[in-house]
Amino acid sequence: MNERDSFSSKLGIIAAAAGSAIGLGNIWKFPYMAGENGGGAFIVVYLLATILIGYPLIYTEFAIGRNARSNALDAFSKVTKNKKFNIVGYLAVGTVFLVATFYAMIAGWVIYYFFLSLTGGLYDVQAGMNLPDHFTMVFDTMNTHVIWPLLGAIVAIASTGFINFSGIKDGVEKYSKILMPLLFVIFIVLIGYSTTLDGFKEAVTFLFKPDFSALTTRTVISAIGQAFFSLSLGMGLLATYGSYVPKSENIRTISRQVVIADTIIALFSGLLIFPAVFTYGGSPAAGPSLIFKALPQVFSQMPGGRWFGALFFLLVIVASVTSMISIFEIIITCLVEKMNFNRHKATLVVVAAVLVGTIINILGEGPWSSFTIGGMTIFGLLDYATNNITIPLTGALTAIVATWFWKYIKMEKELTSDGVYKSTAEGPFFFGLLKWVVPPMILVLILTSL
Ligand code: TRP
Repeated sequence: MNERDSFSSKLGIIAAAAGSAIGLGNIWKFPYMAGENGGGAFIVVYLLATILIGYPLIYTEFAIGRNARSNALDAFSKVTKNKKFNIVGYLAVGTVFLVATFYAMIAGWVIYYFFLSLTGGLYDVQAGMNLPDHFTMVFDTMNTHVIWPLLGAIVAIASTGFINFSGIKDGVEKYSKILMPLLFVIFIVLIGYSTTLDGFKEAVTFLFKPDFSALTTRTVISAIGQAFFSLSLGMGLLATYGSYVPKSENIRTISRQVVIADTIIALFSGLLIFPAVFTYGGSPAAGPSLIFKALPQVFSQMPGGRWFGALFFLLVIVASVTSMISIFEIIITCLVEKMNFNRHKATLVVVAAVLVGTIINILGEGPWSSFTIGGMTIFGLLDYATNNITIPLTGALTAIVATWFWKYIKMEKELTSDGVYKSTAEGPFFFGLLKWVVPPMILVLILTSL
């Protein structure tokens, strides 16, 4: 994909946008966030945030990108012809860089677990040890041994960089179209197996029976941040990809499909992980290590589980790499257009910078784990600050820029491809929501949750 290239087909756009959206955010982050925040009530807020804020903001950011036809740093100032709004672009791209540094670490963990499942070593339980303790030990040992997460992260970053290097169309798009459906099928099979576990009922209650008394402002802002993170929103991705979308496409339709696909995979992940948590013991609030502790318990007990486990982790690797490609792509497009780097140089710079950031995160989980800020490790702090502060903030600013400064008529003109598609009744409704409700609500939530 060269600077002002276009996507070749509608399916290509959807595959790329959904490939970006569906990733660790759904499979790793959603379950642990839901688990930490009490389950059902969090999920209700998450779903509301996805439909009422995420969906209109996705098509808004897409429209800004297509109208501006530029990198994420300049898109917001270009559509409004106001240099001040560069700040939104810088916040978005800064955020996505921070996300990249811990995202690559988690992808590295998944790669480590893939190999450990393949060799069977993951399931060598010492006599007398129960399953939750065993898998906690495996996880902790990995982190203290720096070298394993580091190798995993290097593999993740290098393969991502390699694909960015050699272009997107023939690599990512081709593989995503095969592997993403395969992920879907594996999910169905594994959830089918999960329904037979003792803890399945309890998991469904936990996920879908909301206890609103557990709701705090922090839960609400976490759910909004999670919805944005999962949709790759507020980080310049949709502005970047939007710049490659031809005028002939209906942005609203594409956005709707991305939202649906992303939400289904998140809910599937919940249905997969919580039966394991409630069957074998372990805490739903285990945090970022949740899937690494809960799921292997299932694989260790099911027939052929070692192979299923390996296949599952392999598909998660694929889902993460398609997301990482899009994360890298945002920054690469900026370097190419702002610094006049060629694509290869830009890729190398991004790979090197992300690797350095990732190493800091890895050390922070291992040898430096006693170094904490506000009780959080370096990764914990980055995860919290991006999810609960900068991502919702950029989302709110995007809404402000679009509704107050770009304005309805111009936005609607872009969204309808200059009148080719009809304006829908939802247009004014969501516009009003983004103009009057979303920005003050998010700003208040961020401030009160701090
Ligand atoms: N949405 C991706 C996921 O769910 C992760 C992600 C976060 C991302 N921010 C992004 C992807 C920015 C691309 C661009 O895993």
